[in-house]
Amino acid sequence: MNWPATAPILLALNLGDLIFGPGPCHASPKPEKHACQVQRDRADCRHLKLAEIPTDLPGNITGLDVSHNRLGTISPVSLALYPGLVYLDLGFNSITKLEDSLCLTLGLLRTLIVQHNQVHKLTEKDLSHCLNLTELNLAGNRLMLQGDPFGALQSVTLLDLSKNDLKSARLGTNLQLPSLETLILSDNTISTIEKDAFNFLKNSSSLRVLNLSYQKALKTFQHGCLEPIAGIDELIMDGNKFSTGITSKLCKELSGTEIHSFSLQNVGLVTLAKTTFKGLGKNQITSLDLSHNGMTKIDNGSFQWLPVLEVLSLEQNNLKHLTKNTFQGLGNLTHLNLRKALSKTSSCPIIDDFSFQPLQALETLIMQNTVFRNISAYTFAGLISLRHLHLGSTRCASLERITDQTFVSLAASPLLTLNLSDTKISRLQPGAFNGLGNLTVLRLGFNLISQVLTGKEFQGLGQLQEIYLSNGNLKITLTPTSFASVPTLRTLLLGKVLIGTLEVDPSPFKPLSNISILDLSNNNIAKISRDLFDGLEHLKVLKLQHNNLVQAWTTFNPSGPIMFLKGLRNLVALEMDSNGLDEIPVEAFRGLPNLQELSLSGNVLKHFKDSVFDHLSSLRVLRLQKNQITSVRKEVFGPVLANLSQLVIDKNPFDCTCDSILWFASWLNKTNGSVASLKDEYICNTPLAYFNRSVLLFDPLFCKDMTPFQALYVLTSTAVLILMATSFLVRFQGWRIQFYWNVLINRTLGFSDTNSREGKVFKFDAYIIHAADDTNWVERCLLPLEDTHGYAFYQQERDAVPGDALLESIVNNLNMSRKIIFVVTEKLLQDPFCRQFTAQHALHQVIVNNRDSVVLVFLEDVQDHVLSTRLLLRRGMLRERCVVRWPVQRERVPAFHQSLRIALGTTNKVQ
Ligand SMILES: *[C@@H]1O[C@H](CO)[C@@H](O)[C@H](O)[C@H]1NC(C)=O
Ligand SMILES: *[C@@H]1O[C@H](CO)[C@@H](O)[C@H](O)[C@H]1NC(C)=O
Ligand SMILES: *[C@@H]1O[C@H](CO)[C@@H](O)[C@H](O)[C@H]1NC(C)=O
Ligand SMILES: *[C@@H]1O[C@H](CO)[C@@H](O)[C@H](O)[C@H]1NC(C)=O
Ligand SMILES: *[C@@H]1O[C@H](CO)[C@@H](O)[C@H](O)[C@H]1NC(C)=O
Ligand SMILES: *[C@@H]1O[C@H](CO)[C@@H](O)[C@H](O)[C@H]1NC(C)=O
Ligand SMILES: *[C@@H]1O[C@H](CO)[C@@H](O)[C@H](O)[C@H]1NC(C)=O
Ligand SMILES: *[C@@H]1O[C@H](CO)[C@@H](O)[C@H](O)[C@H]1NC(C)=O
Repeated sequence: MNWPATAPILLALNLGDLIFGPGPCHASPKPEKHACQVQRDRADCRHLKLAEIPTDLPGNITGLDVSHNRLGTISPVSLALYPGLVYLDLGFNSITKLEDSLCLTLGLLRTLIVQHNQVHKLTEKDLSHCLNLTELNLAGNRLMLQGDPFGALQSVTLLDLSKNDLKSARLGTNLQLPSLETLILSDNTISTIEKDAFNFLKNSSSLRVLNLSYQKALKTFQHGCLEPIAGIDELIMDGNKFSTGITSKLCKELSGTEIHSFSLQNVGLVTLAKTTFKGLGKNQITSLDLSHNGMTKIDNGSFQWLPVLEVLSLEQNNLKHLTKNTFQGLGNLTHLNLRKALSKTSSCPIIDDFSFQPLQALETLIMQNTVFRNISAYTFAGLISLRHLHLGSTRCASLERITDQTFVSLAASPLLTLNLSDTKISRLQPGAFNGLGNLTVLRLGFNLISQVLTGKEFQGLGQLQEIYLSNGNLKITLTPTSFASVPTLRTLLLGKVLIGTLEVDPSPFKPLSNISILDLSNNNIAKISRDLFDGLEHLKVLKLQHNNLVQAWTTFNPSGPIMFLKGLRNLVALEMDSNGLDEIPVEAFRGLPNLQELSLSGNVLKHFKDSVFDHLSSLRVLRLQKNQITSVRKEVFGPVLANLSQLVIDKNPFDCTCDSILWFASWLNKTNGSVASLKDEYICNTPLAYFNRSVLLFDPLFCKDMTPFQALYVLTSTAVLILMATSFLVRFQGWRIQFYWNVLINRTLGFSDTNSREGKVFKFDAYIIHAADDTNWVERCLLPLEDTHGYAFYQQERDAVPGDALLESIVNNLNMSRKIIFVVTEKLLQDPFCRQFTAQHALHQVIVNNRDSVVLVFLEDVQDHVLSTRLLLRRGMLRERCVVRWPVQRERVPAFHQSLRIALGTTNKVQ
C-alpha cells in the first residue's frame, strides 16, 4: 500500500516546515576556508588573507605554514607563542625585512621559507641567531646583500637564492656556510663567475650541488673560478645561452673538479664538436644531460672524452644522422635517452648500421617519438646488453609491417621489453619476433593491426608474459591457436581491438593456463561461448566492460543464460560495466569465492534477485553507479554490504520511501567503509518530497513510527466505514430497528399497558381524527357521548389551545389520549394533513407505545386496499370490536353507540 508509506513523509515535511520554517537551500555550497587547519603538530594557514600571524593556535605546534597571505612584518610577540616551531613557511607574503628576533625567538627553527616576498637589505645581524637553521629559502625577493649575511648559518645545508636579481655569485667574503650541500643561484643576472667568487665556500666541504641555471647573460668563467668548490658533484647550467665555445671553456674550468653530473639542458648547444667535452677528459662524468638544445649535429667522436658516462640524454633535439662513430667511446653507457632526438624537418634522419655498436653496456634505449628512415639487419647490432627498447610513437617505414627480418639485429640482445605502441604497425608476419627468446613484455597497442592471429606471429617468444594489443583502430580476429606459442602469458590486453564475437571453439585462451589478467573490454562482444574461460584457474582480473553481454545473461536465451564465469575460482576483480545488462542470473556469480572487486556500473540494472550477491564472500568493492536502481534492499545487499569497504552506487534514481531506501540510508549513515561522492551523488528521484535531495537527508524517524500509523489508519478507516454503514441502515431501516427494539425491550422487561400505561391516567378517552368535512357529523353524533356517557374526547378544532404549535399539540394530545378514533371517510383519505401527519403519528404511537389503541369508525364503505395505501391501516390489523360502522338506519344508532363504547372500553394491551 502506498499511502501509509508516503503520507507520514508528507506530513513530516509539512510539520518540519511549520516548526523550523521552510528549509534552507539544500545544495550545500563548498565550505570556504576561514580558519587554520591544525593536523597533528602542524598548522596550515594558507590563503586566509592574514595580516598577522594567528595567535590562537595550539602552543605546541612545530610547523606553521602562513604562505599566501598578506603579512607585512613578523611580530616576535606572536611568534613567541609557538616556541617549538621547527618549520616556518612565510612564502608569498609582503615581508620587507627579516628581523634577528625571529631566530632568537624560534631557537629550534630548522626550515625557514621566505620565498616571494619583498626582502631587500639583508645584513649579517638579520640571521645572526639562526644557528640551528638547516634550510633557508629566500628565492624571489630582491635581495641586496650587505657584508656576510649568511655568516652565522652554521647548520644550513640548503640555501636557495634564486630569482633575486643577484649580479654576482659572491655571497660573502669570509669563509662561511660550512654545512652547505646545495646552493641554488638560478634565475639571477650573474654574467661572470669571477676567479674568487666562490672563495667564501672554500671551507664548505659538503657542497654537492650548484644550480646556476637561467642566468640572463652568463658568458664568462674566469680561470680558476671553480677551484674553491672543486668538490662539487653536480653542476646545473640549464637555460643559459652558451655557444660551443663557452661550453668548452666551462668544461676546461671543470676539469679540476670532482663533478659527476653535468646538466646542459636548453643552452643552445646546436652542434657538438669533437673537442667540446675535451676538458672533461680527466673528470669522471657519469651523467650528462644535453636535452632541449635543438642540436642538429654530433661530430664523430664527440663523446670519446666520457668513457665512464652511464646516463646520456639527448632528448628533444634535431639530430639528422647517427653514425657508427657518434657514440664512440661510450662503452660504459647504460641508459641512452633519444626521445624526440631525431625528428623530421626536411629530410628523414638516418641511423647508420652499427651506430649503437659502441654501446656494449647499454641496457635501456629510449627512442620514443623519433623519426628515422629504416631499421636494417644491423641497426641495433652490438647492443649485447640491451634489455629495454622503447620505440613507441616512432615513425619508421620498417615498422609498418613487422617481418621476421625487422628485429634480427636484436637477436643477440637479451631484450626483456619491447615497446612498439603507436608505431602504425598494420601487420605482424609469421616469426615477427623470432629470436627475442627472452622477451617478457611486448607492447603493440594503438596500432593499425588488422588480421587473423594464427599464432605464428608470436613464435619464438617462449618467455613472454605480457602482450598489450589494446586500442587498435582496426580489427583482430582470434583463432583457437592465436596464443598457442605463448603459454607463459600472464597478462593479455585485448581491449578495443577485437571483432565483436568470441564464439570461438575451442577457446583461444585455452592454452593460457597461467593467465592472470585478461582485458576484453570495449569490443562490443555480443556472442560469447560458454567455455570461453574454461580452465583459466589463475585468472585474477577480467575486464569485460563496454561489451554487449546483455544477450548472454538474458533469461530469454533459448538455452538459458550463459554462465561464462564458472570455474574462475581465483578471480579477484571483474569489470562488467556498460554492457546493457538489465538482469543478472541468480547463479551468475556462483563459484567466485575470491572475488574482491565487482564493477557493474553504467548498465540498466533495476531489480536484483534476492541472493544474487550472496556467494561473493570476499567482495570488498562494489560499483553500481549509473544504473536504474531505485531501491537498495536488505534481501539483496544485506549480506554483501556487511564486508564491503568501498561501495559506489551513486547516480541512480533512488526512490526515497521507507520501503525502498530506509535500510540503505541507515547503512550509509553508519558504515565505516568508503562511499565515494556520498554527499553529492546519492540523490533521491522519487517521491516528489525528496526529489533531488540527498539520500542522507532521508529521515528514518518517520518509518519507525510506521506501525502505530498503520494501526491508526486501519482503525480510523474501519470507524468511518462502520459509521457510514450505520447511518445508511438507520436512514433506510431505522423504523424497523426501532420497532424491533421496542418490542424487544417490552418483551424482556415486561412493560405493558396494563401495568404502566393503563395505570396512567389519560387526560382524554379518545383523540378524534377526522376530515374537516366530517366536523358536523362528529359534533352531532360523537361529542354528545361526552355528556351522556361521561367520555372526554379531544377534537382538534374544539380543544386546540390557540397559540399552541399545531404539530406539537397533535403529538402531545395523542399521547394523552387512551384511544384514537379514526372517522374514516373518503374525505379523510384525501385530506392530506390527516393522512400524512396525524394518521402517521397515530400509527407511530401505536407502534411505539405498543398500544392496541386504534378505533376505526366507518361512515362510508372504504376499500380495504385504499385504506391500507392511504392510511397504512388494515382492518385486519385491528380487533373486530375496534372497527365500528355508522348505520344508515336511524334505529340502529343506539347499537352504534354501544359498539363504540365497547371499542373504547377495550384494554389497550396487546394480546
Ligand atoms: C598539543 O597540545 C594539545 C593541548 O593543547 C594536546 O591535545 C596535543 O596532544 C598536543 N600535541 C602534541 C604533539 O604534543
Ligand atoms: C639549537 O637547538 C638546540 C637544541 O637542538 C638548542 O639547545 C640551542 O639552544 C639552539 N640554538 C639556538 C641558537 O637557539
Ligand atoms: C674550516 O673548516 C675546518 C674543518 O672543516 C675548521 O676547523 C675551520 O675552523 C674552518 N675555518 C673557518 C674559518 O671556519
Ligand atoms: C635549479 O634551480 C631551479 C630554480 O630553483 C629549479 O627549477 C631547478 O629544478 C633546479 N635544477 C635542478 C637540477 O635541481
Ligand atoms: C664520421 O664517421 C662516419 C662513419 O665512420 C664516416 O662515414 C664519416 O665520414 C665521418 N664524418 C667525419 C666528419 O669524419
Ligand atoms: C668503463 O669504465 C671503467 C672505469 O670505471 C674503464 O676502466 C673502462 O675502460 C670503461 N669501459 C669501457 C668499455 O670504456
Ligand atoms: C636469455 O637469458 C638467458 C639467461 O637468463 C641467457 O642464457 C640466454 O642466452 C638469453 N637469450 C638470449 C636470446 O639472449
Ligand atoms: C544518521 O545518524 C544521525 C546521527 O546518528 C541520525 O540523527 C540520523 O537520523 C541518521 N540518519 C539515517 C538515515 O539513519
